[in-house]
Amino acid sequence: MKSYQIILVPLFLVLAFQLKAQKEAIYDATSIHHPLLSKNGMVSTQHMEATKVGLEILEQGGNAVDAAVAVGFSLAVVLPRAGNLGGGGFMLYHDNARNKTTAYNYREMAPAKAHRDMYLDADGNVDVQLARMHHQASGVPGTVAGLLKALEDHGNMTVEQVVAPAIRLAEEGFPITFDLARLLKLYESRLRASSETEKIFYPSKTTYYEAGDTLRQLDLAWSLKQISKRGRDGFYKGELAKRIAKDMSANDGLIKRRDLAKYKVEVMEPVTGTYRGHEIISMPPPSSGGIHLIQMLNILEEFPIEEMGHNTGATIHTMAEAMKYAYADRSEHLGDPNFYDVPVEWITSKTYGKELSEKISTESATASEDISPGKPNDNESDETTHFSVIDKNRNVVSQTYTLNFSFGNGIVAKGTGILLNNEMNDFSAKPGVPNAFGLLGGEANSIQPGKRPLSSMTPTIVLKDGEPYFVTGTPGGSRIITTILQVVMNIIDHKMNVAEATHASRIHHQWYPEDLFIEGKGISMDTQKILGSMGHSVKIRSVMGSTQTIMILDELLRGCSDPRRPDARIAGY
Ligand code: DON
Repeated sequence: MKSYQIILVPLFLVLAFQLKAQKEAIYDATSIHHPLLSKNGMVSTQHMEATKVGLEILEQGGNAVDAAVAVGFSLAVVLPRAGNLGGGGFMLYHDNARNKTTAYNYREMAPAKAHRDMYLDADGNVDVQLARMHHQASGVPGTVAGLLKALEDHGNMTVEQVVAPAIRLAEEGFPITFDLARLLKLYESRLRASSETEKIFYPSKTTYYEAGDTLRQLDLAWSLKQISKRGRDGFYKGELAKRIAKDMSANDGLIKRRDLAKYKVEVMEPVTGTYRGHEIISMPPPSSGGIHLIQMLNILEEFPIEEMGHNTGATIHTMAEAMKYAYADRSEHLGDPNFYDVPVEWITSKTYGKELSEKISTESATASEDISPGKPNDNESDETTHFSVIDKNRNVVSQTYTLNFSFGNGIVAKGTGILLNNEMNDFSAKPGVPNAFGLLGGEANSIQPGKRPLSSMTPTIVLKDGEPYFVTGTPGGSRIITTILQVVMNIIDHKMNVAEATHASRIHHQWYPEDLFIEGKGISMDTQKILGSMGHSVKIRSVMGSTQTIMILDELLRGCSDPRRPDARIAGY
């Protein structure tokens, strides 16, 4: 080496290092909120006890699937509003070494006795009580089959190992948090309506548990032990299945032992798209989440969003318009692909995205009735939960599952400790009549035996240069898809770190009702006025979503559990 080279090479290396350090420092100095940093593995869930379980599994050498399955079973104990054995959901698993993502569809299925008009009364109106709060509101649960199928395909641990923490939490109990104590009061009428549910969640007919009390769920522990001993059959066949079917027939419900035995998980290809050079991987139908996330990103890619600015009038207006087109298409074209030919390629194509982008005026809002007909109404409070895991080999799990409403239909099947879902309400009970989330639907999402109701759940993984970049997902009913849209845009367009991307105020439009919902405090009055002057009907709504997001950057994991829900927690090691 020549002498000038001996001096210049190290000088260059030092300069390059300083520049990188400076870039990092600038990045950090402009961040108001910081993510959790760690190196080996990270788990983000909506309950601290479940996060602890997931982390312990990773530390014991389990992979992302082992941890996610253990979290799934544990949330059924500690987060009864949404964690479940009696519901269903979706898991995306990205195998880093093989660079392959697999989608698990364990959405509930309509029982054999279900039929198109089952919720209509003699006058042809939807009987809301029957469709939402009755035994007939439940679809055949998929959670246990889904979690165990993913474990069988990709886990390293046994069923006993991943169910054990949930059994311990159910048997020994766990401390009731302020949030759970509050919710048990809030949902009292729904939960006390079933004596089996009341027996579990209330000390007596007139008293309540307080924060700090221990909640033990012995019937649920028994159910978990059936699964631990017999795997899938422990839930879908034998004594547990018999108890569910008996409770159903005693209460005019539809689910029979045959329905349970026939439940099927589908292993699917995810739906994919790109956004400004990043690869977007999400859930295909029967979720509408992935398709419409990609559709909205395709529309928004046509606009210089970064320059337009975060949550400015112009950006929110453009996003709201994109949302309207997506939800209009959802009402017409989306349903279970086993029963209805969903035009996935067309809706997620760049060409269609561009076509829709050209319809968006930069000056004013398009009236919803000029996009397509239909008139919905109410929205109801709701619950689902998402959890994200990344392990030391950078395998990723993105999983959202649900009972639909908080505590599902509020009914525990006798002797099982298992809360039942009311997912049948995600079907379109009657064309033009919105469901509990104000969502419209028609033929594509009509009720048929064996069909799965259309979902909005959007577990998502984003790759950059072919490597996992971040994983995210959220509850929130119809607002799930738009919440995930905003996390993706906050990171990619607005260059936010995951904490800022999580904390930033959110907006939502779903075509009908014709309102632009905002999380009020973070969107300035000035911006609200601009949006009003463009013709948007701006409404302040309660907070939207509870995202669990983990990013991989410079070899570190950076995560944020949404502070919008009190018990959520992220942990890494
Ligand atoms: O699958 C769906 O889209 C709904 N059942 C999800 C419900 C939900 O997210 C409620 N949670 N906040």
